Amino acid sequence: MTLFMAQMGGAILWFAFPRFKEGEFGGIITVPVTDIPAVDSGPKDLPDARVWLVNLGGGRVGDPRQPVDYPVQTGVKALYKICVHLGCLYKWAPANDRFECPCHGSKYLTSGSRVDGPARRNLDTFPIEFVDADGKVLASSAPTGAAGVDENAALEVPKGAVALRINTAFRVQGASNTQPGGGYKIFCNLQRN
Ligand code: FES
Repeated sequence: MTLFMAQMGGAILWFAFPRFKEGEFGGIITVPVTDIPAVDSGPKDLPDARVWLVNLGGGRVGDPRQPVDYPVQTGVKALYKICVHLGCLYKWAPANDRFECPCHGSKYLTSGSRVDGPARRNLDTFPIEFVDADGKVLASSAPTGAAGVDENAALEVPKGAVALRINTAFRVQGASNTQPGGGYKIFCNLQRN
């Protein structure tokens, strides 16, 4: 019994205390700005951060597939690679220019917006910040670890930035998005006409 209690105590402590280090998933992961994909190109896979890095420009923001209720901003976003339906790893499908989940078929745009279920919300993101060569923060999507971060927050690469810091300790939950596939702008426009 004593041994069992000791093991239980150890297990509780193991889960209770953060054990992530800088550079590991669960901590701050720093990547050079050269790892950021070109504006409006496909996403960049960052396996260590468990992130798809995207760089949204006018083409992405104006994508007619973008759900009407979820307008997005231009800039860089770090999308968590786990599908918000039941936790599979969704993939980038270049032929369809979107993310697709192999498990049950949920689909997401580069912006992280869900455009087909069974997922019922947008992709989760991580807060990001740009730093210069001295480590000075030039732009931040949120104070590191702060609550209430806008999942839509995207940052343009500021002048002088040399690195992007991704806070994988703080997952920002994607907004509820239950519109069916027919919720696209194009469909709504058809309905209005
Ligand atoms: S886990 Fe991705 S659609 Fe079900």
